Amino acid sequence: MEVTGKVERLRELCDATRAAGERVGFVATMGALHDGHLSLLRRARDECRLVVLSVFVNPLQFGAGEDYRKYPRDLAADAEVAEREGVDVVFAPDETVMYPTSEPSTWVDPGPVGEVLEGASRSGHFRGVCTVVAKLFNMVGPCSAYFGEKDFQQLAIVRGMVRDLDFSVDVEAGPTVREPDGLAISSRNAFLSTEERRAATCLFRALTRAGEVVAHGERDANVVKAEMARLIGAENLARIDYVAVVAEGDGFTETDRIEGPARALVAARFGTTRLIDNMRLPMP
Ligand code: PAJ
Repeated sequence: MEVTGKVERLRELCDATRAAGERVGFVATMGALHDGHLSLLRRARDECRLVVLSVFVNPLQFGAGEDYRKYPRDLAADAEVAEREGVDVVFAPDETVMYPTSEPSTWVDPGPVGEVLEGASRSGHFRGVCTVVAKLFNMVGPCSAYFGEKDFQQLAIVRGMVRDLDFSVDVEAGPTVREPDGLAISSRNAFLSTEERRAATCLFRALTRAGEVVAHGERDANVVKAEMARLIGAENLARIDYVAVVAEGDGFTETDRIEGPARALVAARFGTTRLIDNMRLPMP
């Protein structure tokens, strides 16, 4: 395994793999590797010749007052985990490599889908995500790129960007990896107190309940949302940010009626920690 911060070296390794007619697999992360990331790396390991992992805490996607400074950073630990998982290249650039002019003057704007739900709560977040992911795609080059359903809106936005800007990238989605009690694994879970950690399982319970309600024939998304809000609201330590139902398919649009493939999404705060989760609803 090679750890590099140099774009030229990354390109060289990826180009050589493609020149030999082999596939490059890419997993973009902000480090603090956990089982969710590992599930994506294992999929890439199964399907590709060269597995590239990027580790970069992207300042562009954090708002003022968000956790950019306290975001966990431990490259040595991440490299050790990556090596065990059979990663070939860890690309861990310095901020000056990614943003030599401090802030770029060119950004990638995801459009209206970047303004709702996560985008409404975190202004500018998806513009920052798209800009860094576009740069990483240009550095890695044509590849299969693996993203988690855990960040479902991000996945939809990255797919939209690849389609709209013709990146030579196959976006592959991996299912959300959870703790035994259902809590979606996230590096932010470490910030929860014992009580908050217990309370945070209400997100999984609310999503599971949403699935049951739909399985019993409910088609009105507002009824499903009210049920999720009731369950999360019953938890004293939870402050709901949003509950939503979106139609799955090409785009990412909230829907009032559940008529085809759809997904329930939730976001809530537990103390100062903000968590998100989502789940596919059963097909009507
Ligand atoms: P990060 O939060 O480190 O997540 C990296 C990838 O791991 C994303 O595709 C995310 O959806 C996936 N992931 C996180 N938790 C998961 C879980 N419990 N189960 C399955 N997959 C999970 O998302 C980002 O970084 C950044 O926005 C990034 C795309 C790297 C751009 O900076």
